[in-house]
Amino acid sequence: MSSLKILAQEELLEVVIQRASKYSRPYLAMYSSWFGGIVKNPACMLIPIDDHMVHRGDGVFEALKCVNGKLYLFDRHMERLLHSARSIKLDLPVTVDELKNIVIETIRVSGAKDAVVRIFVSRGPGGFSADPLETVGPQIYVVVTEPLTPPKEHYEKGVTVRQSKIPMKPSHIAHIKTCNYLHSVMMSMEAHEMKVDFTVSVDEDGCLGEGPTENIAIITSGYEFLVPKFGKVLRGTTVSRAMELAKDLVKIKVLSRIAEECIPLEEVYRAHEVMMFGTTFDVLPVVRFDDKKIGHGQPGPFYKKLLKLIREDMEKNPSVSIPVF
Ligand SMILES: Cc1ncc(COP(=O)(O)O)c(C=O)c1O
Repeated sequence: MSSLKILAQEELLEVVIQRASKYSRPYLAMYSSWFGGIVKNPACMLIPIDDHMVHRGDGVFEALKCVNGKLYLFDRHMERLLHSARSIKLDLPVTVDELKNIVIETIRVSGAKDAVVRIFVSRGPGGFSADPLETVGPQIYVVVTEPLTPPKEHYEKGVTVRQSKIPMKPSHIAHIKTCNYLHSVMMSMEAHEMKVDFTVSVDEDGCLGEGPTENIAIITSGYEFLVPKFGKVLRGTTVSRAMELAKDLVKIKVLSRIAEECIPLEEVYRAHEVMMFGTTFDVLPVVRFDDKKIGHGQPGPFYKKLLKLIREDMEKNPSVSIPVF
């Protein structure tokens, strides 16, 4: 006789509700096309086990920020979501305008002016094989959570980085923001083991890649703002915007040029400044890379300038305002 309990439907609902736990408190609202609406209880933010996004990582996603009731770089995130979906032949089950309304409505229901919004497009439920044709069709899940605030000292004292030992993602995968992030998971584990804040991938030619969920860029001794080639790494919305904003610094000759190219490790070690870029934290200064001090070993002036430009841009150029705020 089985020692495992077989739960009746009513018992199951009770268990699900009790499962709401401290860690899920920052989860504010979730839209699910599968449920056909929005739920606010974190315990009910569930995905069917047979959704191929769960058992095969067959889906794509975006994470964007809502700052003071306004979505930052919404169009750019939508463009990347569509690019990712197209790359794995996944059709969105709604139009971009409908998705925009779903996002706005979910944020409105969450009641948060400042939040992180994650949009998932999954292959959908139906069967457990790798064959995408066996599903009933793509689904949309939108989750609104409280913003993640990185520790203050990361901005004030800088972060440490080491070269990753995990082979870099192949280019045909790296440009897609898929729901299979095992590379990033392994890099995050590696960072804990190496006792650094991030590890950064390096390709077989010795060119710099990216962090688990962030881009990296350098300011060379010749005042060039260099970023690893997009395609080999994810086209980050934050670093792309920083490259556009930094054009003014080229005009006034504070920077000599801005380019995407192979950055050998030696160039990183002798860089004036090294920075990480990503949606949740914007820009962070790297003060040590592989035990080598970067610049003066302190957050540098270009980091401060670029962080200021991004933060000002957030105020001046939000792409979508949430009507209720
Ligand atoms: C692998 C990877 N690289 C870079 C980034 C940075 O992109 P963004 O600036 O759009 O957050 C992310 C963000 O999620 C990522 O997952």
